[in-house]
Amino acid sequence: MKKMVLGCLLMAGIFFACAKKQASLESLRLDTGWKFQYGDDLKWLEPGFDDASWKSILPDRLWENQGYNGYDGYAWYRIRFRLPALLRDSAVLKDSLQIVLGKIDDTDQTFLNGRLIGQNAVTVPATQAGIPENFTHIRTTYDLVRRYVLPAADPRIQWDGENVLAVRVHDHGGGGGLYTQVPAVSMVDMKDYIRIDAMGPFEVRDRTEYTKEVTLANHSGLHDFKGSLNIRVVQIRPEKILYNQNAAVDLGHGTSHAFKFQFTASPTDPCRAVYTFIEEKTKKAFYTRQPVPYVLTPAPPESPRINGPKVYGCRPGRDFLFRIPATGIRPITFAAEGLPEGLRLDANSGVISGKVRKPGTYDVLLTAANGKGTDKRNLKIEAGDRIALTPPMGWNSWNCWGLSVDDARVREAADFMESTGLADHGWSFINIDDGWEAPKRKSNGEIETNEKFPDMKGLSDDVHARGLKLGIYSSPGPYTCGGYLGSYQHELQDVKTYAKWGIDYLKYDWCSYGTIAKDASLEELKKPYELMRDVMRKAPRDIVYSLCQYGMGNVWEWGAEVEGNLWRTTGDITDTWKSMADIGFGQTVQWEFAAPGRWNDPDMLVVGWVGWGPRLHPTQLSVNEQYTHISLWCLLSAPLLLGCDLSKLDDFTLNLLTNDEVLAVDQDPLGRQAKQILAVDSSQVWAKQLEDGSRAVGLFNLDRDDGKVSVSWADLGLSGGLNVRDLWRQQDIGTFADKFETEVYGHGVVLVRIGPE
Ligand code: GLA
Repeated sequence: MKKMVLGCLLMAGIFFACAKKQASLESLRLDTGWKFQYGDDLKWLEPGFDDASWKSILPDRLWENQGYNGYDGYAWYRIRFRLPALLRDSAVLKDSLQIVLGKIDDTDQTFLNGRLIGQNAVTVPATQAGIPENFTHIRTTYDLVRRYVLPAADPRIQWDGENVLAVRVHDHGGGGGLYTQVPAVSMVDMKDYIRIDAMGPFEVRDRTEYTKEVTLANHSGLHDFKGSLNIRVVQIRPEKILYNQNAAVDLGHGTSHAFKFQFTASPTDPCRAVYTFIEEKTKKAFYTRQPVPYVLTPAPPESPRINGPKVYGCRPGRDFLFRIPATGIRPITFAAEGLPEGLRLDANSGVISGKVRKPGTYDVLLTAANGKGTDKRNLKIEAGDRIALTPPMGWNSWNCWGLSVDDARVREAADFMESTGLADHGWSFINIDDGWEAPKRKSNGEIETNEKFPDMKGLSDDVHARGLKLGIYSSPGPYTCGGYLGSYQHELQDVKTYAKWGIDYLKYDWCSYGTIAKDASLEELKKPYELMRDVMRKAPRDIVYSLCQYGMGNVWEWGAEVEGNLWRTTGDITDTWKSMADIGFGQTVQWEFAAPGRWNDPDMLVVGWVGWGPRLHPTQLSVNEQYTHISLWCLLSAPLLLGCDLSKLDDFTLNLLTNDEVLAVDQDPLGRQAKQILAVDSSQVWAKQLEDGSRAVGLFNLDRDDGKVSVSWADLGLSGGLNVRDLWRQQDIGTFADKFETEVYGHGVVLVRIGPE
């Protein structure tokens, strides 16, 4: 009898537990059931509208990737879903409902059951008469996560009933639609209010003394929370706790508390910091973990070392500018033997300038000498018809300043390019992205700068005086993506103006050209870039021609034909693992098309302080992810364009960007691109053939947890005992008979060079 009671109780207990489990619903994923129609009709917002004939669509990728290639303009998404009241009733906080749609390219208005719940678009005045109104005066908000919050008691919500969400999207050009995640509906929870902000940098003194500040904030305007914050720093191998502290926190609504802490760690042994807040009543834990920056790049010697490209292309009779990148204590005296006629070297700055008179290939012997020693290296100057023989390296204003770029910020970038020493490792372009153009052309049609750039020629003179180069941005359409003037019907005139200003690089961005193109055919995709190719041929100056149209029509297959020096293969990058890894590891088919002067461009770098302007934040990529980012981009022979505020470079970032053995992989004169040779579970191996016959190989671990990755010589098409060199540490690891296996940090990489000793 007793037993039975116990059994029943147990059964009841189990039942209760099951019932309890079933009786909670944290979030409703709206992953299937989305309907799509391009065009625009306000009837489509009505809940009763019959959308049965509409096509299905996925809400986590651009419509271009789902059969609507090249479509720009209006389109609607609709979904019907039942909203269980259980979602509200089982929540800890029951006052607000949130609908998270992710990012939308470009603008949206979102309706729930026929009533507007949110919209995102920035209105700017139309800048030129005669341009169709529909896209010109709305600026994109493509990079903003749409999160619409409603009171739980809002009459627009049908609890336990059918709801219809209708999203009216306008795409100004390029990619369009919902594109980043599966939309979801949930109650606003503690995790939406409690923020552990650990974004600020780790300050390092004497390479071992770390200081760090984290902030715990409660963004609720209503709810107070109490709990404790644990801060812990752990060295990963061998495992060792370096810091461990608890603090009780009274987290009133709208308040934040900063915690500063210090610890000692070795700069080369990876450590992790973990911040955990446990809420007192629910015992719910909120945590953030982040790697402590570790530096792998050895300091360069005091004696001179010449870095940068080993081959440089120019056209005879055009302005030539090359700054010899060299590390070592200054002053350094430079010399160059065998310079082609027409060029001269400034022995103090190492800047070579002039105009090569005759076509030909010139083997120049460069020398750099200081009180500590001398370095010599060959530079092949090819004076012919090819430029950008190695991927361009430099800075671009977009990922940091966005449309708030101005003359001072560009000058500052050039200044820091020099003073941080980046220029001594081959970083040389200073590129202005969108936002420099005046609202109207001169009466003769000439393009002008806006008030943020009072003197473009003066700016280029100053940049050139440092041996650096200046780039600019435009669109083949009437407007740029940022709503500024494009080059449509002024192509030749614009290039002449750029040449007059001394511009060395043009990024030519599709944007509003979608309204000019007749259709999405390959012919129409190529047209504006062919036109610009013909114009560029007439340019009295070497201008690197950078195509930006997000990969449409497999641009890598015809970028060379339109004489692009580089072409964007993807949509815009952001500073998240998902964005960077999806783009970087997605470059599986383009490798065959890369060659000297013809580069695939997986978009700019997202290390350092970024933000698309004017407010910046440190990259959200973890330390390991940043090593992955730079290693992968170098393997891909990608243009390396920094998108960060160079005045805020910390030690870690600077070391990440100044490893000459790693950069040499990107700049290898053979100009091959790495191929993905293995992708098993979360391990990937990418290998790039180098000029000397060896391979640069990236062993990547895409899992969050650490794991082993290996590569066999057979996979690489190699055999025999081969030397393996760790490129980040600039150290030989040893000789291996037929394969190499290594432990790789989660989201991290081991980048090696494999070849004969
Ligand atoms: C597009 C490009 C970006 C940037 C902006 C400027 O989105 O892909 O790289 O140039 O336009 O508006």
